[in-house]
Amino acid sequence: MPGTFSQLNGHEQVVFGHDEASGLRCIIAIHSTVLGPALGGTRMYPYDSEEDALVDVLRLSRGMTYKSAVTGLDLGGGKAVIIGDPATDKTEALLRAYGRMIESLNGRYVTACDVGTYSADMGIIGRETRWATGSEVVEGGSGDSGVMTALGTYVGIKACAERVFDDASMAGRHVAIQGVGKVGRRLAEHLAEEGCKLTVADVNEDATADLADRLGADVVAVEDIHAVDADVFSPNAMGAVINDATIPRLQCRIVAGAANNQLADARHGQVLADAGVLYAPDYVINAGGVIQVGDELHPDGYSADRVRARVERIGERLAAVFVTAEREGLPTAEAADHVAEERMAAVGRLRSFHLPR
Ligand SMILES: NC(=O)c1ccc[n+]([C@@H]2O[C@H](COP(=O)([O-])OP(=O)(O)OC[C@H]3O[C@@H](n4cnc5c(N)ncnc54)[C@H](O)[C@@H]3O)[C@@H](O)[C@H]2O)c1
Repeated sequence: MPGTFSQLNGHEQVVFGHDEASGLRCIIAIHSTVLGPALGGTRMYPYDSEEDALVDVLRLSRGMTYKSAVTGLDLGGGKAVIIGDPATDKTEALLRAYGRMIESLNGRYVTACDVGTYSADMGIIGRETRWATGSEVVEGGSGDSGVMTALGTYVGIKACAERVFDDASMAGRHVAIQGVGKVGRRLAEHLAEEGCKLTVADVNEDATADLADRLGADVVAVEDIHAVDADVFSPNAMGAVINDATIPRLQCRIVAGAANNQLADARHGQVLADAGVLYAPDYVINAGGVIQVGDELHPDGYSADRVRARVERIGERLAAVFVTAEREGLPTAEAADHVAEERMAAVGRLRSFHLPR
């Protein structure tokens, strides 16, 4: 077990939670609260080992810090994992025990949905803690974040088109979408509405058949989607899809999608740039979800209008990252890191300015 402080990679706090009776085993990682409470989803997954779970949660929580910082939110970064199979191990008691674990952190960590957890689960967790977002609308939450993530990804793709083609319109363009789940399917709908040609791939054949029927999308095998001759390749399934094997097969000018951690390794950002492909840094373009659930913490209460307006500005944020990348001679992913780090340093510093209560 790599429980040494050096492996915490700058994290403020990492909490291991255990409730024997319900079988709860969770790790809550708070990477940074410099800009605000550490918000990030709960992933429930049957990890092979506790070490795998720890590595995953540390990586994911750090990513949330950067995502919220670059997006201009007053949120820090955190993430949590529950070790277990969501199909067989998830019970009311386990989720409520987990909710009590979150409550014990008194708002330093705020949770939301991620792989293996759903809005209905947030409702159950929320019976034990004030710090669960993204529950169903009927339960008082803001609901499925896939809607806003898809809108932000769509707006972001248009910003990329503006940069590469000097024209943000997607009419007559061609986008290859990998993964048409909660985000990818809605992204396809936005693009089709604007007259964009679509090619899609998913391991779920019902999902692709639906888009072929409704939107006239072409369907290709999952192992070929990145090699489609299209303007944009949009990863919306799993991470690490931009790697040494896929980059030589890309035929697109733009890689822009919602999947987290698309670059298998940081150096692939430079490899893409050298190949003349514009990369929309994943945590910048996929911030629609965190904008949505983070708004539940707003002092005036949740506002769907404010969320939509903020999500629609994702295009401007990407454009600013592209300008920074060009000015500093950096791949776009590194430029995004710089923008996030500069904001954390400049705005986070203000916390040291004492305000009497
Ligand atoms: N939902 C959000 O608000 C949100 C926010 C930020 C980032 N993301 C990221 O966006 C991605 C998609 O999220 P989602 O909420 O749509 O998840 P989802 O589980 O609803 O959809 C993922 C889809 O990808 C498909 N898939 C799995 N393996 C595949 C493969 N090898 N090839 C092609 N398709 C495959 C699945 O069948 C599914 O239809 C994930 O990487 C997620 O982490 C989601």
